[in-house]
Amino acid sequence: MAEVRRKIGLSVGADLCWPVCYEEVLDRLDLSVRHGGDAIRFDVERVTIEPFYLRQPVRYDVVIDRLTHWYGTSREWIKKAVVMNGLYVFNNPWSIQSNEKHTSYCAMMRLGMPVPTTWMVPPKAYEPQPDLEITLERYAQMFDLRELGDKVGYPMYIKPYDGGGWAGVSRIDDADDLQRLYDESGTYLMHLQQAVDPHDMFIRCVGLGPQMRVVRYDPGAPLHDRYTSDDGGIPDDQRQHLIDTTLTINSFFGWDFNSCEALRQDGQWFPIDFANPCPDSQVTSLHYHFPWLIGANLRWSLFCAATNRPMRPNLDWQPYFTIADTDAPYEEKLQGYAAIARERLQVDEFEEFCGEHLGHLDQVLWDFFATDTAREAVRMKVTALYPEHEVDEFTEMFWDRIQTWRKDATP
Ligand SMILES: Nc1ncnc2c1ncn2[C@@H]1O[C@H](COP(=O)(O)OP(=O)(O)OP(=O)(O)O)[C@@H](O)[C@H]1O
Ligand SMILES: [Mg+2]
Repeated sequence: MAEVRRKIGLSVGADLCWPVCYEEVLDRLDLSVRHGGDAIRFDVERVTIEPFYLRQPVRYDVVIDRLTHWYGTSREWIKKAVVMNGLYVFNNPWSIQSNEKHTSYCAMMRLGMPVPTTWMVPPKAYEPQPDLEITLERYAQMFDLRELGDKVGYPMYIKPYDGGGWAGVSRIDDADDLQRLYDESGTYLMHLQQAVDPHDMFIRCVGLGPQMRVVRYDPGAPLHDRYTSDDGGIPDDQRQHLIDTTLTINSFFGWDFNSCEALRQDGQWFPIDFANPCPDSQVTSLHYHFPWLIGANLRWSLFCAATNRPMRPNLDWQPYFTIADTDAPYEEKLQGYAAIARERLQVDEFEEFCGEHLGHLDQVLWDFFATDTAREAVRMKVTALYPEHEVDEFTEMFWDRIQTWRKDATP
């Protein structure tokens, strides 16, 4: 039996805690996976940034990327490595680049998801461009913002069509608010979106490959408390609905790692933000859920590396649209979309792989999150984010939440 080595690259920037934990747990797993007649061992390395020749080979089988959404050199290196060298990367870099929040709303509306009423408005102001004046003079229609406000209805949200991190997001309660916030939006291209108000539950469903974590989210809390430690105690059928929704979105856009936000009103779930293909991964946000993320990341990346999972060369949306165009009720369509997702995400093969080769992962993870190395990784992230006089207190708090996870997840 030949020994084969597979290399996983971590393409990261400011991320500190999860890469250390990922590397340490991988080392402790001490894997030698028998697959396809080979004994496969795994190496992990941080991807560096440097000039690259477009025909050069790539050292990695899988890259976990956290830079594509903002750092051009890494994004273009990854695109080259997928096309030229058959690299597998989470996430599909073309899809991150081109499918912003706006496209994700349109596409999921097309599939029948109850995204709240959303309008796009031309921007209030423009950067100067040679043809701007003549284009606007000829074609830009005057519009009545108040009339538009009435069509969307109050309360509503104004938010950038491609946003993230709440930048430029505001709630609007009346027509005066709308006028003021539109005037202040400057060159941003904005959506006006009906608020799901009131709502009695806010869920973030984090997906990593076929693995899903449903977490109750509290947007009004300070950053370290927005992800709560619970899932809102939602009933099983609603949980499955949110999981199927996330599977659909992630497989539709080729995002291995993404999180989907949905709000519940009168028992119905409204997805409001699901183009987040570089989700929170820091212990300072995820705390209790952080060990889950490390385990999920390892399982999916090891499966992809060991089995040489190919990147889909295109997103291939037609099978979803074919279901969307039937007369079936929405819940039935959703099950159809999720079935496509499960096939594309190789759920059966993945579960078999985990059962056969990663049976000890839960124990290794559980042991690791009691060590000084894990604690130091938490401290390192806290030190990077918090003022010096709060480092001890917050390190202790995040560590305690991880210990609560250990109690709840005892293998
Ligand atoms: N239609 C809506 N109904 C109710 N609340 C909303 C709506 N749209 C946005 N919000 C609120 O505003 C917050 C930010 O909006 P949104 O998630 O769309 O922006 P974002 O910049 O993508 O944020 P993030 O990067 O944190 O996900 C949401 O977490 C939610 O609390
Ligand atoms: Mg959001």
